[in-house]
Amino acid sequence: MIVSPSILSADFANLGRDIRMLQESEAAWIHCDVMDGVFVPNISFGFPVIKAVSAYTDKPLDVHLMIVDPGRYVSAVRDAGAAIMNVHQEACTHLHRTVQAIKDAGMKAAVTLNPATPVSTLEDIIGELDMVLLMSVNPGFGGQKFIEHTLEKTRRLRRLIDDSGSKALIQVDGGVNLTTGPLLAQAGADSLVAGNAVFAAPGPKAVIAALAAL
Ligand code: DX5
Ligand code: ZN
Repeated sequence: MIVSPSILSADFANLGRDIRMLQESEAAWIHCDVMDGVFVPNISFGFPVIKAVSAYTDKPLDVHLMIVDPGRYVSAVRDAGAAIMNVHQEACTHLHRTVQAIKDAGMKAAVTLNPATPVSTLEDIIGELDMVLLMSVNPGFGGQKFIEHTLEKTRRLRRLIDDSGSKALIQVDGGVNLTTGPLLAQAGADSLVAGNAVFAAPGPKAVIAALAAL
């Protein structure tokens, strides 16, 4: 399992220390949640913080943009050090154009679906995507309860990807822990994001290792 711990739940006053912990852990990627206070009802951090994180780790940065019209920021995201640029389907009027721009900039292109957005909306672009992220909470905050319907949605996305011959990975984000993680692995997830389950644990590296072993 590709584990991508979310630094939204890190200690921002000790971010360097927390990144060092992730660097030494079995985390494959580091998930960076950018929020603009418009697309979601919260504001987190932006490009200067991502750039600072990228200097502390060689793990790929998986940047999840919860902002309106993210296509405006393709070069800023790339210059901040992102390996994966992840945009919400609901935030892009011209999703195909944005996905092409992300790939042209040399990053992997990922698209996120909110809990109420159906998998079928990606039918005509799935072959272009490197990853699809299913939100298993309404985006904006860490530490929320996992929406169970995501398990069925993950199975549906698995079928769409397999039937279309797409190589897209399936990532799930929100309320992922050692109880929901195994269920998601069984449903066909390739990558799990975890914030609270990692950073609120007494042994974050052990939680990461347990998720990575799924
Ligand atoms: C939520 C963010 C998540 C968040 C997950 O809007 O996209 O990445 O950090 O947090 P947990 O794992 O605590 O639900
Ligand atoms: Zn996220």
